[in-house]
Amino acid sequence: MIRVAIIGATGYTASESLRILLRHPQAQATYLTALPEECGPIVKIFPEFRDRLDLEVEPLELAKLSDLADVVLCCLPHKASMGFVPKLLDAGLKVIDFSADYRLRDVAVYEQYYQVKHTDTKNLQRAVFALPELFREKIAGTDLISNPGCYPTCSSLGLAPLVREGLIDLQDIVVNTVSGISGAGRKPGQAFHFPEINENYFAYAVGTHRHMPEIEQILSDVAGKPVNVLFQPHVAPYTRGMLATIYANPTRSLSQAELDELYAETYGPEVFVRLPGCPPQVLPVAGTNFCDVWATTAKGKVVVLSALDNLVKGAAGQAIQNMNIIFGLEEAMGLL
Ligand SMILES: NC(=O)c1ccc[n+]([C@@H]2O[C@H](COP(=O)([O-])OP(=O)(O)OC[C@H]3O[C@@H](n4cnc5c(N)ncnc54)[C@H](OP(=O)(O)O)[C@@H]3O)[C@@H](O)[C@H]2O)c1
Repeated sequence: MIRVAIIGATGYTASESLRILLRHPQAQATYLTALPEECGPIVKIFPEFRDRLDLEVEPLELAKLSDLADVVLCCLPHKASMGFVPKLLDAGLKVIDFSADYRLRDVAVYEQYYQVKHTDTKNLQRAVFALPELFREKIAGTDLISNPGCYPTCSSLGLAPLVREGLIDLQDIVVNTVSGISGAGRKPGQAFHFPEINENYFAYAVGTHRHMPEIEQILSDVAGKPVNVLFQPHVAPYTRGMLATIYANPTRSLSQAELDELYAETYGPEVFVRLPGCPPQVLPVAGTNFCDVWATTAKGKVVVLSALDNLVKGAAGQAIQNMNIIFGLEEAMGLL
């Protein structure tokens, strides 16, 4: 049995991880930690775990952690995460980091977009950016997994087949997304206060969103050359799930049959990328580790639509998928 610790156990991605671990046949949550003022029985924080999970959330003690766990899900915000990860690695644990701290290889780009100094560039070099459907061969045997962001997973899975085959102009891609509010985490904020978000819908971070360089990094790796993306996120008043609508210019004429065949060839063997053959929606992927993708053409453009649950394939589900890979388990274990 793989013993799993969660740091930042009072957050949304932590609760989603616990939900998955409860049905995982070969992994179990053994140690949950948070800041001292947030500690207590997990059922007090997340009542859904009553009679299912008898664990306390405790302040982190490194010695206890290395006794009780084989792997840590680090569910902290960026900046906080890189303060903890070096200690976890030094304690001999495998780490799956949910934050952005180990995602961007270029430190200058990280510091520009996140407006903080990177304090753990040593481990940044060894971190593996783990989006299994695109970079699976790099993941096995790693001890520091950088779990991709939700928007980058959603958009890159949609775009990768076209980018890899050079079928779209790599310098002119527009990614429009809409996300539910859980994407912003559990900490309350005025913009997500009920009277402000109910019946509302807005764009944010125009031209500056932190996931833009992450999407570009993924797609540039897939293409083997630089890719330029304009990424525009929106938020809408529902809880979970996101939809990306992507526009690109084809480098040659593409028929629907050709697009369908390309996506079927790319994702046929993939358990977690589904091809519905029509525009995907958020509700059918909610609570699942699936990403639903469809590509078509309109008005001389390629239009790609991609949907996933930000808390599952966009975070906790993908983390458990990565955990399964690094421990040599069946990749979909606990996730279907
Ligand atoms: N939400 C999503 O859809 C999503 C998707 C992909 C990736 N992610 C990433 O996953 C990570 C967790 O996201 P989340 O949505 O679960 O966030 P969240 O609900 O806000 O939870 C964050 C957790 O970290 C703790 N924390 C915050 N600052 C800390 C510090 N300085 N030291 C120790 N603990 C601290 C919080 O404790 P308190 O309760 O005391 O604040 C809480 O337990 C973030 O890096 C986020 O960007 C989130």
